[in-house]
Amino acid sequence: MTEARPVQPPHPPLHDGDVTLRPFHEDDAESVARACRDPEIRRWIPTIPEPYTIDDAVTFIERVERDWAEGHAAAFAIVESGDSRLLGAITIHGPRDRRAFVGYWVAPWARRRGVATRALRLVSRWAMREMGLVRLALYTLEGNVGSQVVAERCGFVREGVLRNYDDGGDCVMFSLVPADLAGE
Ligand SMILES: CC(C)(COP(=O)(O)OP(=O)(O)OC[C@H]1O[C@@H](n2cnc3c(N)ncnc32)[C@H](O)[C@@H]1OP(=O)(O)O)[C@@H](O)C(=O)NCCC(=O)NCCS
Repeated sequence: MTEARPVQPPHPPLHDGDVTLRPFHEDDAESVARACRDPEIRRWIPTIPEPYTIDDAVTFIERVERDWAEGHAAAFAIVESGDSRLLGAITIHGPRDRRAFVGYWVAPWARRRGVATRALRLVSRWAMREMGLVRLALYTLEGNVGSQVVAERCGFVREGVLRNYDDGGDCVMFSLVPADLAGE
Protein backbone atom coordinates (compact mmCIF):
# COMPACT_ATOMS: atom_id res chain seq x y z
CA MET A 1 0.00 0.00 0.00
CA THR A 2 1.46 3.39 -0.96
CA GLU A 3 1.79 6.10 1.66
CA ALA A 4 -0.60 9.03 1.89
CA ARG A 5 0.54 12.14 0.08
CA PRO A 6 1.04 15.40 2.04
CA VAL A 7 -1.63 17.91 1.01
CA GLN A 8 -1.73 21.64 0.42
CA PRO A 9 -4.87 23.78 0.67
CA PRO A 10 -6.60 23.41 -2.71
CA HIS A 11 -6.07 26.25 -5.13
CA PRO A 12 -8.47 27.48 -6.41
CA PRO A 13 -10.59 26.76 -3.32
CA LEU A 14 -13.14 23.95 -3.42
CA HIS A 15 -16.51 25.27 -4.56
CA ASP A 16 -19.71 24.10 -6.19
CA GLY A 17 -21.28 27.40 -7.22
CA ASP A 18 -23.21 27.74 -3.93
CA VAL A 19 -20.62 27.18 -1.23
CA THR A 20 -16.87 27.72 -1.16
CA LEU A 21 -14.42 26.11 1.27
CA ARG A 22 -11.60 28.47 2.13
CA PRO A 23 -8.93 28.64 4.87
CA PHE A 24 -9.86 30.30 8.16
CA HIS A 25 -8.70 33.89 8.76
CA GLU A 26 -8.22 35.81 12.03
CA ASP A 27 -11.28 37.85 11.05
CA ASP A 28 -13.47 34.75 11.42
CA ALA A 29 -12.96 34.65 15.21
CA GLU A 30 -16.10 36.60 16.08
CA SER A 31 -18.33 34.48 13.81
CA VAL A 32 -16.74 31.25 15.09
CA ALA A 33 -17.40 32.33 18.69
CA ARG A 34 -20.98 33.36 17.90
CA ALA A 35 -21.68 30.03 16.16
CA CYS A 36 -20.03 27.89 18.84
CA ARG A 37 -22.22 29.42 21.58
CA ASP A 38 -25.18 27.73 19.90
CA PRO A 39 -26.71 25.03 22.11
CA GLU A 40 -27.10 22.59 19.17
CA ILE A 41 -23.38 22.71 18.44
CA ARG A 42 -22.59 22.16 22.14
CA ARG A 43 -25.14 19.37 22.31
CA TRP A 44 -23.75 17.35 19.41
CA ILE A 45 -20.03 18.22 19.72
CA PRO A 46 -19.32 17.72 23.43
CA THR A 47 -15.66 18.76 23.10
CA ILE A 48 -16.63 22.39 22.28
CA PRO A 49 -15.55 24.63 25.21
CA GLU A 50 -18.30 26.12 27.32
CA PRO A 51 -18.58 29.07 27.69
CA TYR A 52 -17.08 29.70 24.24
CA THR A 53 -15.03 32.91 24.27
CA ILE A 54 -13.34 34.94 21.54
CA ASP A 55 -10.06 33.55 22.89
CA ASP A 56 -11.34 30.01 22.22
CA ALA A 57 -12.10 31.03 18.64
CA VAL A 58 -8.66 32.62 18.19
CA THR A 59 -7.03 29.46 19.61
CA PHE A 60 -9.11 27.32 17.21
CA ILE A 61 -8.02 29.39 14.20
CA GLU A 62 -4.35 29.31 15.26
CA ARG A 63 -4.57 25.55 15.75
CA VAL A 64 -6.10 24.87 12.34
CA GLU A 65 -3.38 26.95 10.68
CA ARG A 66 -0.75 24.85 12.50
CA ASP A 67 -2.57 21.62 11.62
CA TRP A 68 -2.43 22.47 7.90
CA ALA A 69 1.28 23.27 8.15
CA GLU A 70 2.06 20.07 10.07
CA GLY A 71 -0.26 17.81 8.05
CA HIS A 72 -2.39 16.84 11.09
CA ALA A 73 -5.71 18.10 9.75
CA ALA A 74 -7.26 20.08 6.91
CA ALA A 75 -9.85 22.57 8.20
CA PHE A 76 -12.00 24.74 5.99
CA ALA A 77 -14.29 27.69 6.62
CA ILE A 78 -17.55 27.18 4.73
CA VAL A 79 -18.72 30.41 3.10
CA GLU A 80 -21.29 31.33 0.52
CA SER A 81 -19.68 31.57 -2.92
CA GLY A 82 -18.97 35.25 -3.63
CA ASP A 83 -19.30 36.24 0.04
CA SER A 84 -16.86 35.89 2.92
CA ARG A 85 -19.46 35.53 5.69
CA LEU A 86 -18.88 32.34 7.67
CA LEU A 87 -21.53 29.62 7.38
CA GLY A 88 -19.71 26.77 9.09
CA ALA A 89 -16.60 24.67 9.50
CA ILE A 90 -15.53 21.29 8.14
CA THR A 91 -12.32 19.45 8.98
CA ILE A 92 -10.57 16.35 7.75
CA HIS A 93 -8.64 14.94 10.75
CA GLY A 94 -5.58 13.04 9.58
CA PRO A 95 -4.68 11.29 7.39
CA ARG A 96 -2.95 8.48 9.20
CA ASP A 97 -2.20 5.25 7.35
CA ARG A 98 -4.48 6.49 4.53
CA ARG A 99 -7.42 6.82 6.91
CA ALA A 100 -9.02 10.01 8.16
CA PHE A 101 -12.23 11.24 9.69
CA VAL A 102 -14.36 14.27 9.03
CA GLY A 103 -16.23 16.59 11.39
CA TYR A 104 -18.34 19.69 10.78
CA TRP A 105 -20.78 22.24 12.10
CA VAL A 106 -23.03 24.76 10.40
CA ALA A 107 -23.84 28.08 12.13
CA PRO A 108 -27.44 28.48 13.29
CA TRP A 109 -27.97 31.28 10.77
CA ALA A 110 -27.13 29.00 7.80
CA ARG A 111 -28.98 25.75 8.57
CA ARG A 112 -31.43 23.75 6.44
CA ARG A 113 -30.16 25.24 3.18
CA GLY A 114 -28.02 22.27 2.15
CA VAL A 115 -24.78 23.85 3.41
CA ALA A 116 -23.50 20.79 5.33
CA THR A 117 -24.42 18.44 2.49
CA ARG A 118 -22.64 20.57 -0.10
CA ALA A 119 -19.55 21.08 2.04
CA LEU A 120 -19.29 17.40 2.98
CA ARG A 121 -19.68 16.29 -0.62
CA LEU A 122 -16.92 18.66 -1.74
CA VAL A 123 -14.45 17.92 1.03
CA SER A 124 -14.95 14.14 1.09
CA ARG A 125 -14.29 13.75 -2.65
CA TRP A 126 -11.28 16.06 -2.42
CA ALA A 127 -9.83 14.17 0.58
CA MET A 128 -10.35 10.71 -0.96
CA ARG A 129 -8.59 11.88 -4.11
CA GLU A 130 -5.85 14.16 -2.82
CA MET A 131 -4.98 12.23 0.34
CA GLY A 132 -5.26 8.86 -1.39
CA LEU A 133 -7.56 7.62 1.37
CA VAL A 134 -8.82 4.07 1.66
CA ARG A 135 -11.34 5.11 4.33
CA LEU A 136 -12.94 8.36 5.43
CA ALA A 137 -14.89 7.90 8.67
CA LEU A 138 -17.61 10.10 10.13
CA TYR A 139 -19.36 9.55 13.43
CA THR A 140 -22.27 11.29 15.07
CA LEU A 141 -23.92 10.96 18.45
CA GLU A 142 -26.76 8.49 18.21
CA GLY A 143 -29.54 11.10 18.41
CA ASN A 144 -28.05 13.46 15.84
CA VAL A 145 -30.45 12.60 13.04
CA GLY A 146 -29.67 15.75 11.02
CA SER A 147 -25.99 14.90 10.74
CA GLN A 148 -26.80 11.27 9.89
CA VAL A 149 -29.02 12.38 6.99
CA VAL A 150 -26.21 14.63 5.74
CA ALA A 151 -23.74 11.70 5.88
CA GLU A 152 -26.04 9.38 3.95
CA ARG A 153 -26.87 12.03 1.33
CA CYS A 154 -23.14 12.25 0.64
CA GLY A 155 -22.78 8.51 0.12
CA PHE A 156 -21.41 7.54 3.54
CA VAL A 157 -22.45 4.06 4.63
CA ARG A 158 -23.80 3.45 8.15
CA GLU A 159 -21.71 0.77 9.85
CA GLY A 160 -23.15 0.50 13.35
CA VAL A 161 -23.29 1.90 16.85
CA LEU A 162 -20.13 2.25 18.94
CA ARG A 163 -21.07 2.33 22.61
CA ASN A 164 -19.61 5.13 24.76
CA TYR A 165 -17.43 6.09 21.81
CA ASP A 166 -16.99 9.70 22.87
CA ASP A 167 -17.81 11.99 25.79
CA GLY A 168 -21.42 12.26 24.63
CA GLY A 169 -21.97 8.48 24.72
CA ASP A 170 -23.05 6.10 21.96
CA CYS A 171 -22.14 7.07 18.39
CA VAL A 172 -23.16 5.93 14.92
CA MET A 173 -20.15 5.22 12.71
CA PHE A 174 -20.24 5.89 8.96
CA SER A 175 -17.58 5.51 6.33
CA LEU A 176 -16.81 6.29 2.73
CA VAL A 177 -14.39 4.06 0.80
CA PRO A 178 -13.21 4.38 -2.81
CA ALA A 179 -15.71 1.75 -4.03
CA ASP A 180 -18.58 3.97 -2.84
CA LEU A 181 -17.50 6.61 -5.37
CA ALA A 182 -16.97 4.26 -8.29
CA GLY A 183 -20.09 5.50 -10.09
CA GLU A 184 -19.21 9.22 -9.86
C1 LIG B 1 -26.23 18.76 11.53
C2 LIG B 1 -25.87 20.04 10.76
C3 LIG B 1 -24.39 20.00 10.41
C4 LIG B 1 -26.73 20.08 9.47
O1 LIG B 1 -26.33 21.21 8.72
P1 LIG B 1 -27.29 21.83 7.58
O2 LIG B 1 -26.46 22.67 6.70
O3 LIG B 1 -28.47 22.43 8.22
O4 LIG B 1 -27.73 20.49 6.83
P2 LIG B 1 -28.42 20.39 5.39
O5 LIG B 1 -29.21 21.63 5.12
O6 LIG B 1 -27.40 19.98 4.42
O7 LIG B 1 -29.44 19.20 5.71
C5 LIG B 1 -29.62 18.09 4.85
C6 LIG B 1 -30.76 17.26 5.39
O8 LIG B 1 -30.45 16.75 6.68
C7 LIG B 1 -31.66 16.69 7.46
N1 LIG B 1 -31.49 17.57 8.62
C8 LIG B 1 -30.62 18.58 8.78
N2 LIG B 1 -30.75 19.10 10.02
C9 LIG B 1 -31.73 18.41 10.63
C10 LIG B 1 -32.31 18.46 11.91
N3 LIG B 1 -31.91 19.35 12.83
N4 LIG B 1 -33.30 17.59 12.22
C11 LIG B 1 -33.71 16.67 11.31
N5 LIG B 1 -33.19 16.56 10.06
C12 LIG B 1 -32.22 17.42 9.72
C13 LIG B 1 -32.78 17.16 6.56
O9 LIG B 1 -33.33 16.03 5.94
C14 LIG B 1 -32.04 18.02 5.58
O10 LIG B 1 -32.68 18.12 4.35
P3 LIG B 1 -33.97 19.09 4.16
O11 LIG B 1 -33.61 20.42 4.78
O12 LIG B 1 -34.09 19.13 2.65
O13 LIG B 1 -35.08 18.42 4.85
C15 LIG B 1 -26.17 21.31 11.59
O14 LIG B 1 -27.51 21.27 12.04
C16 LIG B 1 -25.26 21.48 12.78
O15 LIG B 1 -24.19 22.08 12.66
N6 LIG B 1 -25.66 20.96 13.95
C17 LIG B 1 -24.89 21.12 15.17
C18 LIG B 1 -23.47 20.53 15.09
C19 LIG B 1 -23.46 19.10 14.57
O16 LIG B 1 -24.38 18.32 14.81
N7 LIG B 1 -22.39 18.77 13.84
C20 LIG B 1 -22.19 17.42 13.36
C21 LIG B 1 -21.57 16.58 14.40
S1 LIG B 1 -21.44 14.90 13.84
